[in-house]
Amino acid sequence: MKYQDIVLKNKEWIDEVWERLDKKLSHTSVKSRDKIPYSTKDGVHDSCTEGIKITNWTNGFWGGLMWLMYAGTGKDCYKLTAERSEELMDVCFTDYVDELHHDVGFMWHILSGANYRLTGNKRSRNRNLLAAMTLMSRYNVEGNYIRSWNVTWEKIDNSGWTIIDCMMNIPQLYWASKELCDDRFKKIAVRYADMAMRDHVREDGSVNHIVVHDTEKPDVVLGTLGGQGYGEGSSWSRGVSWALYGFALSYIHTSHERYLQTAKKVAKHFIENTQKTDWLPLLDFKAPEQPVLYDSTAGAIAACGLIEIARNAEESEQEYYLSAALNILQAMEKHWCDWTETEDSILQMGSERYARGHHKPIIYGDFFFTEAILKLKGLDFLPW
Ligand code: GLY
Repeated sequence: MKYQDIVLKNKEWIDEVWERLDKKLSHTSVKSRDKIPYSTKDGVHDSCTEGIKITNWTNGFWGGLMWLMYAGTGKDCYKLTAERSEELMDVCFTDYVDELHHDVGFMWHILSGANYRLTGNKRSRNRNLLAAMTLMSRYNVEGNYIRSWNVTWEKIDNSGWTIIDCMMNIPQLYWASKELCDDRFKKIAVRYADMAMRDHVREDGSVNHIVVHDTEKPDVVLGTLGGQGYGEGSSWSRGVSWALYGFALSYIHTSHERYLQTAKKVAKHFIENTQKTDWLPLLDFKAPEQPVLYDSTAGAIAACGLIEIARNAEESEQEYYLSAALNILQAMEKHWCDWTETEDSILQMGSERYARGHHKPIIYGDFFFTEAILKLKGLDFLPW
């Protein structure tokens, strides 16, 4: 079956979920307007609005979610909350520049970048350009990679580390190149994607979360680290989903076929493993059988990537990717979505890392779940 026929077959479910999203989010958009939520406590959104937490990598998702809903509905309640989020985060550019990291793409591209693309707001364009320049400044010219994190308080030397998650930050660089008619940003993004293809993606489609590079010599890998999954050599599902969607996005922005092929290879690994657990994604596909830990955020991110792969694949392949996305979204909606007004979050059962060993709602789960439904509705706005 072709993409459009599959969407049509599922139209009733898609419309129903979209209505539920709008009903719940139009309520929380007002209730949590002055917050930047990360999770909930006793059903109520928490907030990262103070101190160093304002530089938290997840802080663009709440405002970004509001822009997704604004793109789909045109309602002011969403626009006002998104704009509030941007204002709250401006302090990062004055008081916390030394705390900024590679996740400025997650923080501003889907927030200020989205605002500019939807409304033409010039101040937002500048915020996103400043963030893109920050990301580009992290490029190590000798090692040929973008540095991920800063020195931690434990003083671990992470100057040579890259993490697969950064595949989601580099769309900000593709955008900046176009916006400024300056290829330098894109060239660094392409170098990063090529490095990730070579050093992070494994033969079976799983990924290394962290790769340690030589800081002085180009393209020399010193080792890999387990990061947020079970351990070194395991398959942390959110890392897999970052690669899946990230390579699909790099294909969309560059038209380089090698990125689409890589996205498909990673997708196959995600699909084959998620199928085994009735389409509810485990936190790590190569962890011991016990304890059973899931991660809904990985499912939501992967669904977005699978939809984009389906759209860009040959007609004969579209069903494989799109049906998998729908299976994941429908299973998660049935088992893990909370549509009540006593709980501010929607998608439950997110996981931060294997070592924490527990589930919680996390804001980017709601963001990517909504983004996937927006795509299926055909109300397209690609925030990346
Ligand atoms: N970027 C960190 C994470 O996915 O948890």
